[in-house]
Amino acid sequence: MVLLSLAQSIQERDRVTYEHSRRVATYVQRLARYIGWNRSDARDLALAAMVHDLGKTWIANNILNKSAALSDIERREMERHPVIGARILIGCEVPSFFVEAVLYHHEAWDGHGYPTGLSGEDIPLSARLLTIADVYDVLTSQRPYKAPLSTYAARDRMLAGASSSFDPQLLDTFLHLLSETPNFVVPQHVCALSHQPVEAMAIVDM
Ligand SMILES: [Fe+2]
Repeated sequence: MVLLSLAQSIQERDRVTYEHSRRVATYVQRLARYIGWNRSDARDLALAAMVHDLGKTWIANNILNKSAALSDIERREMERHPVIGARILIGCEVPSFFVEAVLYHHEAWDGHGYPTGLSGEDIPLSARLLTIADVYDVLTSQRPYKAPLSTYAARDRMLAGASSSFDPQLLDTFLHLLSETPNFVVPQHVCALSHQPVEAMAIVDM
């Protein structure tokens, strides 16, 4: 399927984004199942998560891997990645479910996100779920420009943005899962697996 090929292209271009996408896929699939999505839909959402940052494969290395804060121009360039990713998916004639999840994964509940400034329930549910999983993993990951936060610190940071960045009800559910589910947190170091081709990394049905 074309989405797995695209995920493979992320793996070859940018290992950090690929590993991040795998963890986001796991979190969002668990969250979707918990709120009642069936296996097939939750698996599709996990596939969308695998390519949510696909557009970053077209962002220049000096911006993508920069260890200091981005300038305004660089930030605007980076913020093109949801649109670039969505365009690639449209070109591949992927169903609109995947295009929407990718296009809107940086929108914010109060409308301050990008690329369109959609707010509240106008943001597709798939993207609202993806945003929460994405931000949690970014906060708890090592990046060239920042140290990882602990689970507790990430939880506090997300609660601070509860009514501005996230669907508050979905955030509550995610934080409940995080605190109540044993082994919910996906390990950061999965290098042994990352050498396998994407097809071997089957997104398991939950
Ligand atoms: Fe992104």
